[in-house]
Parts: sequence; C-alpha cells; structure tokens
Amino acid sequence: MAKIVPKRVLEEIRFRNDIVETVSRCLDLKRSGNTFKALCPFHKEKTPSFHVNPQRQIYHCFGCGAGGDVFAFVQQYEGVDFMTAVRMLAERAGVQLDLEDGEPGVSNKQALFDLLADVAQRYHRVLLETKSGARARRYLAQRDLSEAVIADFQIGYAPNRWDAVLNWGRKQKFPVERLEEAGLIVAGSKPGAQGRYYDRFRNRVMFPIRDEQGRVIGFSGRTLDDAADAAKYVNSPETPVFRKSRVLYGLDRARRAVTEAREAILCEGQIDVIRCHQAGFPAAVAPQGTALTEDQVRMVRRYADGVVLVFDPDRAGQDAAVRAAGVAIGAGLAVRVAALPPGQDPDTLIRERGARAFGEILEQAGSAVHFQIEVLSRRENVRSEVGLMRVARAVLGTISRTPNAVQRAALVQEAASLLNIPVSALQDDLRTAMRRSRGTAPARGGAADGTARRSARPLEEVELCEHLARVDDLPEIGVIVSQYLPLE
Ligand code: CTP
Ligand code: MN
Repeated sequence: MAKIVPKRVLEEIRFRNDIVETVSRCLDLKRSGNTFKALCPFHKEKTPSFHVNPQRQIYHCFGCGAGGDVFAFVQQYEGVDFMTAVRMLAERAGVQLDLEDGEPGVSNKQALFDLLADVAQRYHRVLLETKSGARARRYLAQRDLSEAVIADFQIGYAPNRWDAVLNWGRKQKFPVERLEEAGLIVAGSKPGAQGRYYDRFRNRVMFPIRDEQGRVIGFSGRTLDDAADAAKYVNSPETPVFRKSRVLYGLDRARRAVTEAREAILCEGQIDVIRCHQAGFPAAVAPQGTALTEDQVRMVRRYADGVVLVFDPDRAGQDAAVRAAGVAIGAGLAVRVAALPPGQDPDTLIRERGARAFGEILEQAGSAVHFQIEVLSRRENVRSEVGLMRVARAVLGTISRTPNAVQRAALVQEAASLLNIPVSALQDDLRTAMRRSRGTAPARGGAADGTARRSARPLEEVELCEHLARVDDLPEIGVIVSQYLPLE
C-alpha cells in the first residue's frame, strides 16, 4: 500500500510555515495593503505582479498565473517534487514526518465540523425558543448582552439533562463515537456507569468556539450560577479539530477589523470579546484564559503588526500580561498594554463606564516595557541598587525576545529613560542577556543560524558559560564570565 503523509501532519506543516515568512526568505516582499508584493521569480517582469496573501496563506502571480500554497511555492521555486517540498518544510518547522498507509484516517474532520455546527445551532435554538432556555435568556439579559450579539456569536444553552445531546445525536444518526470524539459526551468511569455515556455540557450558557474560517470546533460553557461549586467554565477537551493553544476566540469575526487597524485587542475571556464587539471594538479576540501561545501570536501576525493587551489588573493578570507581551514581542509584534482600573475587566469596565472610557484606556496603552517597569516599580524598590538591577534584568528579558533590531533599540531607549540610566549600560546588559537566552532557548526554525554563530568558539567554552549563566540565582555571573572569556 502506498505511504502517504496524513492530512493533519500536512496541516501542521502548513500552519508552522507561514507563507510570508517562507517567501520572504527567497524574495524581497513589500507590504501593499493586506497583501505583500514582489517581482515574480517565475517570469520576467519589471513591476511586481507576484502577490502573497497572509490571510489565505497563498501566493498568486497576476502576470504568469503561478500560484498556490506554501508547498506549491517551495516546489516551484526550488524545482522539487511535492514530497521533497513537504520534507523541506517539515524539517524547517521541526515537524516529525510520520508516513501512514494510504487510507483515510479514522477522524474525518468534516464529519466533526458538521456535527459541531449542528449542535451549536441546536443549543442556540434551545436558548431562544424553549421554556428550559428561559433562565439562560434572563441571565444573558441581566448581563446586558444584546439579541444581536447573541445571534452573531450564536450563544446557546445546554439543557439541564444528562442525555440531551445523546438522544438528539441518536435521532440524527450520528455515531456515538463521533459525539465522543467531538468532546460532546463523556464515558462514565464510576462503577455501574462504565461504558455509559453522558452529556459533557449541562445547564450552561454555551459559547461556540470557531476557527479562523468560522467553523465551530468546540464549546465553552458558563455556569448560570456563580455560587454553585461547579466550575465557572467547562470547555471542550482537545479533539482532532480543537486545540486550545491554537484558537483565538472571536478571530473569525474580528479578522477584518484587525486587518484594518493592524492591531488586535487581546482580552482574557469570551464575554470580554463579545462585550467589545457589542460596544464597537470589533478587533477583540481572546486566548480564553490560557497563557498566550506562540501559535496564537502567529495567527495574529497574519492580520496585524501589533496587539494591545487588556488583561485583568490583579497580580496574576499583570504577570500574564507581561508573559503574553514577551511571547508577542518574540514574534516581532508591536505590543501595547492597557491598564484597567482595579477590579475591572473589559466587560465590566464598558458596562459601568461606557465604550468611550474603554476607548480612552486603549488609546493610552503604553509599550510593554513601560507597563512592565510600572508594575515592577510597585513591587521593587528601584531606588535601591538591587531593586533597580532586578527590574532592569526583567525588562531586558522581555526586550531580548524581539527578532527586530529597530524594536529592540526603541525599547532599550524607552527603558533607559524610564529607569533613568544610560542607554549604553542597558545595551551592554542586553547583549549579555541575549547571549544567555540564545543558549537556553534556540529560536525555532533558526537552529542553523544559532549553530553558525556558536561554532565560532570552542563548544566546551560556550557550554561552560551557558551553564554558569543559567545558575539563576547568580544572574550577574554571565556578566562576570563575559569579561574573562571571548564570548563574541
Ligand atoms: N476560563 C476557563 N475555565 C475556568 C475559568 C476561566 O476556561 N474555570 C477562561 C474562560 O475563557 C474565561 C477566561 O478564562 O472567559 C477568563 O476567566 P475569568 O476572568 O474568571 O472569567 P470572565 O471572562 O470574567 O467571565 P465572567 O465575566 O463570565 O465571569
Ligand atoms: Mn468578566
């Protein structure tokens, strides 16, 4: 039987090889509105008619008609066959290429999409049309969510039963395995209940979670009863179509606004996103309570050059914002962080103070470095030498993540002026910090680059220095070592 690359592996490789990034390694791409342009490498021309579309992840030349996805580009540009292009891109992205026998996989994604779309519609109708949905309707009205956004986001209600989806699936002739694979039902594990299935979502307000293309891939269900000891939110488990680290709630609806503003508004939860959309901030998306991932940032970068983070202002939220800022900066995005008043999230702020107040807060959002220094200055005494060093080190940790020299220089300058120390001092320490992080976390896809830089010096020397620099409670040892060993 012929060996094939499973579809999900191809998708993984495609996802990890952004077409703009891939093409710009070969051509000089210039941004032009929502797309990028270059002189076509496949035919002779003097004005660029070769377009790359980051949203659709395709290229097309209006001159010669060449076009396709990232695999097609590599095939055409390198003059290789499909499998070779797949191998090259898999290797670049660090994706393991497991070949399988040429049979369709068990998980037919389209079948899951169809099922989930049906269930979303059903939950929505239960909310709008049934008696059992009355309490959820009242709840949403109390929270001041309009009928329009309830329809737009297809908010629904999962009835208070153990077998609502089960019975309905049976009627529609959906196989039980598919209901389970989609994360809608759970197999009982208690004695007596083994092998029996029950609905995962019961008596909850249901938010369908969609992928970029708007297909329902999972659900988040909110309890109607904050006092109950049940979890506030129950989410779909990881399934063949739902990978939480790769979803930004609301992106399917926010895409256009994000592209226009070239900046996404990043909130924490789905209600924040919905409130933002309702109040006239349609560029809002949310990682839904998980720490922002590289994959999510990569998705934002297809539409925008920057993000503004609007996280809860408590200590956990501040830390999450700093961490998220680092991840976004690491992908070369410009980052601003909005400071909400204590106790507020975007939802409550807009409700209590109005859309204008929220707009002003967004406008006033400063850089990630500014935010981090402000937060840390409240926790550390920056008048003391030790406090200042600690703050500077943390901020340099953030700055060192950017792959962009202009961004790096601008942030260093800002940090220096905020901390009231010379730019040159920060630059010196930044060099050390960057050497250190290069040792501990080689940039993905940049392995070749990293090794080239390292091979200039004996490996043992490099490893010793990196080891010393990693002894974390002695952060300054890297600085000391660098004075004795030729690190650069
Ligand atoms: N979340 C989750 N599971 C939980 C708690 C939270 O998945 N048990 C996610 C949800 O996506 C939620 C986000 O984390 O929207 C932020 O959580 P939180 O701030 O607690 O909730 P809010 O979004 O403020 O929700 P609400 O306004 O409905 O209370
Ligand atoms: Mn909230």
